Amino acid sequence: MQIRTVSELLSQKIANPEVDIKGWVRTFRANRFIALNDGSTLNNIQCVVDFENTDESILKRITTGAAIHIKGDLVESLGKGQSVEINVKHIEILGDSDPETYPIQPKKHSFEFLRENAHLRTRTNTFSAVMRLRSALSFAIHKYFNENGFYYMHAPIITGSDAEGAGEMFRVSSLDGKNPPLTENGQIDYSKDFFGKETNLTVSGQLEAETYAMSLGKVYTFGPTFRAENSNTSRHLAEFWMIEPEVAFMDLAGNMDLAESFLKSVIKYILANNREDLDFLNQRLLDEEKTKPQAERSDMSLIEKLNFVTENNFTRLSYTEAIDILRDSTPNKKKKFKYIIEDWGADLQSEHERFLVEKHFKCPVILYDYPANIKAFYMRLNDDGKTVRAMDILFPGIGEIVGGAQREERLDVLKKKMAAIHIPEEDLWWYLDLRKYGTAVHSGFGLGFERLVMFATGMSNIRDVIPFPRTPQNAEF
Ligand code: 4AD
Ligand code: MG
Repeated sequence: MQIRTVSELLSQKIANPEVDIKGWVRTFRANRFIALNDGSTLNNIQCVVDFENTDESILKRITTGAAIHIKGDLVESLGKGQSVEINVKHIEILGDSDPETYPIQPKKHSFEFLRENAHLRTRTNTFSAVMRLRSALSFAIHKYFNENGFYYMHAPIITGSDAEGAGEMFRVSSLDGKNPPLTENGQIDYSKDFFGKETNLTVSGQLEAETYAMSLGKVYTFGPTFRAENSNTSRHLAEFWMIEPEVAFMDLAGNMDLAESFLKSVIKYILANNREDLDFLNQRLLDEEKTKPQAERSDMSLIEKLNFVTENNFTRLSYTEAIDILRDSTPNKKKKFKYIIEDWGADLQSEHERFLVEKHFKCPVILYDYPANIKAFYMRLNDDGKTVRAMDILFPGIGEIVGGAQREERLDVLKKKMAAIHIPEEDLWWYLDLRKYGTAVHSGFGLGFERLVMFATGMSNIRDVIPFPRTPQNAEF
């Protein structure tokens, strides 16, 4: 007798009727029917207990949440809803549950409640489906890069440079917070700190990935990144995972092609391999939509949205074209936007990005050639002297999902841009070296992994697509 998973048993053609299985009780009905789940699939296997020949003391302990071990025969099911079930011959309680206090009752719970019970929420259908998809997407990402000749590069998590300028950083220090060593003028003396200098958690692995692109050619990072911005929104985390490919000899057009092909490929992967979980989440969203007023309902289901992204070209347009569209748009004229677009140079807010994607183009959009002064210093300056070779990809329901650029490869231009925003050359001497020794056109981008998982699962709060979300005032678990 071999220990099996529920997933294997449910897909099996009863070749081996004696089975042995372990899992958690979802429900126990009529002292007879156990719905057993072990995380291998959304579906439960029904285990039929012969209650007349089972000890009363055991029957009492088969409660929602308990871990049990079952041996029995796999037989064709006579009941509706499943093709096979187990006739239980032997049952062992591995770990009792307490039906009075177990938080995950067999009923609908709010996502807020489940966030407070994040350690148990993957025992629900929704969260187990989301997290299986998260795992599958992560595999699909590695698969795509592996099949396309990229090397996986591990960028450092503790960094000595705050050059990215992507946001506030979390300091890493082993100094005594109550009594830190001070310099003569009363500042904290970081030369006495663990690394002999000020260090932080990284906001992005890009600058280090560039060094590897300029030797290994095609690389990507996939790791945790940290931002201490106080943005308490449904799309921001203080700790999130980012995928950052970086490619030598590739320009901005190549970067857009790569990002589009990559996103399509990972979405195709889950459509082909994770249909059960996707179908469940699709239905969950359809049910949720029905509770909304007609005008707010989405005109596409989750599966339709995913297919749409894989089957249609992303619309590419410059920032300048986007500003023209936004300026002439109805919500702008009727002052429905919180931030009215008047002049070229305005930073786009998520309301503008979502208007372009959801109302105007109704498909994913790649915006490029942004004003230099609203983008990072390392982006390549265009010949017009005022725009840079930046690109952002905007997705329906999400807004910005990817941010990237062709990098400034000219030493003199890069130095000037750094000087303008007071980045000392000594801080980034190694980054400047790449422009001194064998510089070349190169590009890359960053995909926010949780934003991709949100899009792929239809979940509307980023806190619900990462196991243990870190947000302002919250680092439980
Ligand atoms: O646009 P960002 O800040 O770009 C960079 O960090 C570049 N260094 C990337 C590169 O070119 N290699 O971040 C990239 C993506 C965003 O488009 C967004 O999807 C996600 O990371 N992101 C966040 N996701 C969750 N929470 C946050 N606080 C995020 N900030 C950015
Ligand atoms: Mg960005």
